[in-house]
Amino acid sequence: MIVLGIETSCDDTSLALYARGRGVIANLTARQVIHEEYGGVVPEIASRQHMRTLLPVFDAVLEKAGVDRTELGGVGVSNGPGLVGSLLVGVGFAKSLAMGLGIPVVGVHHIEAHVLSNELGGEPLRYPSLVLVVSGGHTALYHVEHMGHYTLVGNTRDDAAGEAFDKIAKLLGLGFPGGPAVQRAAEDGDPRAVDFPRAMRDRGGFDFSFSGLKTAVRQHVEARGALSPRDVADIAASAQAAIVDALVERTVACAQAHAIGHVYLAGGVAANGPLRASMEAACASAGLSYHAPLLEYCTDNGAMVARTAELLLSTGRDDGACLDVFTRGAIESWA
Ligand code: KG4
Ligand code: ZN
Repeated sequence: MIVLGIETSCDDTSLALYARGRGVIANLTARQVIHEEYGGVVPEIASRQHMRTLLPVFDAVLEKAGVDRTELGGVGVSNGPGLVGSLLVGVGFAKSLAMGLGIPVVGVHHIEAHVLSNELGGEPLRYPSLVLVVSGGHTALYHVEHMGHYTLVGNTRDDAAGEAFDKIAKLLGLGFPGGPAVQRAAEDGDPRAVDFPRAMRDRGGFDFSFSGLKTAVRQHVEARGALSPRDVADIAASAQAAIVDALVERTVACAQAHAIGHVYLAGGVAANGPLRASMEAACASAGLSYHAPLLEYCTDNGAMVARTAELLLSTGRDDGACLDVFTRGAIESWA
């Protein structure tokens, strides 16, 4: 069965076709560059852009795959969490398409899709696993005991890791989205140049906090005045190191506390080179197995939605015309 996955929860219109045994048949993303002008995603513009690009991307992904729409066996769509207007465009389209073709439609939790993006390389998830989901809107640790069973064991108290990258990039005048820009700028910098705080280090539990770091970077930038390219590189490298250290320390400690052997990264920030390298090294020295999604499937994509939908559809689920959107909430277990 060929499944269509639709991702419109934020600012990327991404559609993909996936089939069990074949994997990803095609994945196509229209990035909304217009938000760069505003230094962040403008929700109303995002929904309107989805309206414009969804149908052309749908036609293009079918053409790329050489698949006719009548060959589709089911549709999956991110129905939350995300921006309500953006979600409504994708969900409205998914339901109409499913109704027109007489096939089932399932709502996919965007974060569960990020978790399962780890399977797009061809290897099924190993259980029990601990998944660090780090994106523009989320920083969460999920204990996945078995397929479809999720327990939230750590969360951010304030900003998400991706949000921290984006805000630090803005302070340094590096553009949007900030994560890749900070990583690039940091390549020429010294991560020990500025000793930024490692939040929550001395507190119990496995929650994260990044607002203190953001404030520390702002104060540091204001105190220095005009920044040379060297300063920018050093601050970017030092701030990135503070984020990476906090994520890696908490994740490894959490895996050890819960006796979980397999550690996974997921979400846009999982594309960060130093995070991948540092997590891999920390897992190796703690005797944990380390995994991360292929780079192309870290940021939002239709493939992860299609993969998750295929799993849900295989349980016989069909959300039908009642499928609705939601703006927040953790992954709910379904098995
Ligand atoms: O998962 P995603 O595409 O969207 C959400 O669900 O939020 O994540 C987007 C986030 C942005 O904050 C972006 O700055 C960050 O992922 N990001 C990165 C990198 N690539 C994307 N952060 C750090 N390093 C990167 N290489
Ligand atoms: Zn995402």
